[in-house]
Amino acid sequence: MKADNLILNEFSDHAFNLKSHLIEFFSMKESDLDGFLANAKMNLANLHPANALSDVSDFYSDIVGDRHIADLAAWHISSKDYIADTLKLQQIFSKDLVLDFGGGIGTHALANAMSSKVEHVFFVDINETNRNFVEYRASELGVEKKLTFCRTIEDTKISKFNTIVCLDVLEHLADPVSQIEIFNEFMDFDSTALFNWYFYKGEKNEYPFHIEDKQVVEKFFKKLQQIFLEVFHPILITTRAYKKVR
Ligand SMILES: C[S@@+](CC[C@H](N)C(=O)[O-])C[C@H]1O[C@@H](n2cnc3c(N)ncnc32)[C@H](O)[C@@H]1O
Repeated sequence: MKADNLILNEFSDHAFNLKSHLIEFFSMKESDLDGFLANAKMNLANLHPANALSDVSDFYSDIVGDRHIADLAAWHISSKDYIADTLKLQQIFSKDLVLDFGGGIGTHALANAMSSKVEHVFFVDINETNRNFVEYRASELGVEKKLTFCRTIEDTKISKFNTIVCLDVLEHLADPVSQIEIFNEFMDFDSTALFNWYFYKGEKNEYPFHIEDKQVVEKFFKKLQQIFLEVFHPILITTRAYKKVR
């Protein structure tokens, strides 16, 4: 287990060895890594089946393959300060049993697994390559005993989590309203959920896979305010902390 500041330093210095994990996991030449990362965002956007909501799950489970890993890795490396702030936020709230829903390349799940306040992390992601990549990273970093990898929340066999982390995922789901209702069912009154969202496809449709339908977004905010109460935190980021409304 590591102290909070050490975890943050290890993320700032090398994103928990992300580059070497990419090279080893994908058996890639070191000289090919920069190209793999540089083209990631465009490749992912070009793959998307033009805004068809019904295709969203298939897109993340079957179509993206390793391209989403490249996209997320490029983002976590280029936006280190922003990601580090989300890790600081986790350090305020994370404890005991943690669910990381849509955990991507594992930055948040791995940081939580390194924390002495966290008993176990359940990494849930619809994409098998992501799950395998983060499982590999966890064993390289020596925290594999504190992580379980699942495709769905039900697969975790846990009925209540003390902390739920769902960052940059809600805008990717066909039904974000139902998803926050599901999270609510998996929380006790002293649990905390950390959520953010970006319901916007971008100025030039850079994020064709994001939901921005006004009705869906309005329904989302109504439901959010009905079932959750915001908990103040001092970090200047868009991610919000919530507890269940009594
Ligand atoms: C933009 S990434 C965010 C990753 C990570 N939370 C982060 O902040 O870097 C969205 C993630 O959600 C996952 N995902 C999409 N739909 C999902 C679903 N229905 N259930 C679980 N994971 C899902 C994708 O595979 C992807 O890893």
